Amino acid sequence: MNKIFSGIRPSGKLHLGHYFGAIKNWVALQDNPESEQAIFAVVEYHGITTPFNPKTYHQQVMDSVLDYLAAGINPEKSLLIRQSKIPEHTELAWIFNTITPVSWLDRLPTYKEKLEQAPKYNNVGLLDYPVLMAADILIYKSNLVPVGEDQMPHIDLANEIAKKFNHMFGQTFEPVKAFLAEGARIMSLQEPTKKMSKTGDEALNLMDEPDTVREKIKKAVTDSGKEIKFDEENKPAISNLLTIHSLLSGKEIKKVEEEYDGKSYVDFKKDLAEVVVGFLKPFQEKRKGFESNSDQVEEILTKSEEKAKIIASSNLAEIKKKMGVF
Ligand code: AMP
Ligand code: TRP
Repeated sequence: MNKIFSGIRPSGKLHLGHYFGAIKNWVALQDNPESEQAIFAVVEYHGITTPFNPKTYHQQVMDSVLDYLAAGINPEKSLLIRQSKIPEHTELAWIFNTITPVSWLDRLPTYKEKLEQAPKYNNVGLLDYPVLMAADILIYKSNLVPVGEDQMPHIDLANEIAKKFNHMFGQTFEPVKAFLAEGARIMSLQEPTKKMSKTGDEALNLMDEPDTVREKIKKAVTDSGKEIKFDEENKPAISNLLTIHSLLSGKEIKKVEEEYDGKSYVDFKKDLAEVVVGFLKPFQEKRKGFESNSDQVEEILTKSEEKAKIIASSNLAEIKKKMGVF
């Protein structure tokens, strides 16, 4: 039996990359009979380690919650929580800080990348980011963590910390495994050799209006040559669009290629836009339903957070006792 935990920073609108790279797996795992516990978090304390806007931050958190619910996180099966509402996460992070050598942290590629993006935002929290992530996972004694491949160094670190804790204070944590999304990297519409991320016309957001979707796909870059053929190396742009088509329509890439044999990029893009619009429609309707029912959403969060708190505080008590802090 598995205990699942995952989180996403509330740093912007969710896009198709998030859906296929992360949330789709969350939903699959929540529905898997092998899962005995599934907890999904909006990790606000991770989000503040990089530049953010305090005026809009609360709204971003609530937007993320609505996105998760609309994407299929089912409060009957999973707990949906805000990290900051369960202070045991940060308390365990402090404990882990005292057993984590700085040299495990300042060599991590994610730390270096974030520093490059915002060199002035060089704060201790950014260095410590993966320790808090280890605490998020281990406070619930979770053992299976659905994430993208970029998060592997953090999962390795969580295991190092768990091992060291077990060694110093007695067996407490089981090994943690990453659950990686298979072949679901969605690339930018503007620069198809980079992954789709949060800015401008490069991402198809889950909440984009039909006309915005049509416009973004129309403007998406294409490769030279007319053929609609999957070839990631030489035709990264059309390969990405084919991947998106295939994931959304459920048709194999080969089948989509056949359908568009001899047709133009313009035809393909027009149809792709409608596939995306159709895919997003039920998601957007579901989201509007939750949006107009904020009491229900508040109740889902409060109930989840109460249950999560019970697990977290019981585990933290055990951890502190082992360390003589009680
Ligand atoms: P981030 O917004 O970078 O914190 O990503 C949150 C989660 O979504 C991580 O598990 C990422 O690996 C995944 N993710 C983000 N962008 C993409 C993408 N373009 N394709 C696939 N997965 C993605
Ligand atoms: N670091 C993760 C990311 O950037 C977000 C995250 C925080 C997380 N805590 C976590 C993911 C715990 C999985 C488990 O995507």
